[in-house]
Amino acid sequence: MKNPFTAPGKIILFGEHAVVYGKPAIAIPVSGMRASAWSEPGEGKLTINALDLNEKIGLENKASQFSVLAQALLAKTKQKEPNLTINLTSKLPQGSGMGSSAATSTAVCKALSNYLGVDLEHNQISELVFDAEKIVHGTPSGIDNTVVAYESPVYFVKGEDPLTFDSGRNFYLVIGDTGIEASTKETVGNVRKLWEKEPNLMNGYFDEIANVTEGGKMAIEEGNKEAVGELMNKNHELLNKIGVGHPLLEKLVDLTLDAGALGAKLTGGGGGGNMVALANNAEEQAEICEKITEAGYRAYQTTFGED
Ligand code: PMV
Repeated sequence: MKNPFTAPGKIILFGEHAVVYGKPAIAIPVSGMRASAWSEPGEGKLTINALDLNEKIGLENKASQFSVLAQALLAKTKQKEPNLTINLTSKLPQGSGMGSSAATSTAVCKALSNYLGVDLEHNQISELVFDAEKIVHGTPSGIDNTVVAYESPVYFVKGEDPLTFDSGRNFYLVIGDTGIEASTKETVGNVRKLWEKEPNLMNGYFDEIANVTEGGKMAIEEGNKEAVGELMNKNHELLNKIGVGHPLLEKLVDLTLDAGALGAKLTGGGGGGNMVALANNAEEQAEICEKITEAGYRAYQTTFGED
């Protein structure tokens, strides 16, 4: 692999789903788990070689996030289809709330723009990836492409410039994977159906989630880990109320709380995928991670903020 272009995964700490309805959300990059893309001479046209899927995607494949992205980038830079193969691989599990589609699109975007000789700003990458995300997610809020393209913790409101923010301390997180592949497009669609049926009830939940997210931002800035943990629990309860829970998410949330986590919640689209727990310190982070793997599920450790 020659000098790959890479992009991190992400998790949402607060505000998923409500963010689709204009409420704020907080997401952080998971820098240890990345998608990588690198180019080599093509076979007469532009091909995205998705190595993990064993799939070669050309520009004609309008149903692919990568061809949408490449078409948009070529149109933006007024360039013809290059004779290029972009190889792509990712350490991020798909359909797990870790932003695998945004990370892979971002890596491809960086590799292709580099080949085309264009220097894109974070916000330009984010916008291109956002359009490609619509293929995967239907009506994405834009939080995934933002946190992945900026590779920084962000406080995000749809349609507004993302805010990066400072954190008062290091936060030790454990991500637990239910192993159930869930479609964000589907859970977002289900939430929309409920919202159409019961707008007042659902708007009430979204408002409560917004309060939790605002509190979460303050608690992170203050470095108040106990408050962050409590708010994660509260956010999880509300996510269950809007119908995006899953019994296995419950199992992993309970298991991590029993193991001493300060708080735990599902992260991302829900209905399966991942949960995230906040540990008291690095030692307990490792213990919680081990408890999840002992129970037979994949787990990852990640940190953010500064001591
Ligand atoms: O499943 P993920 O990590 O891609 O997160 C989706 C987050 C939602 O708020 C549910 C949808 C969105 O577009 O923001």
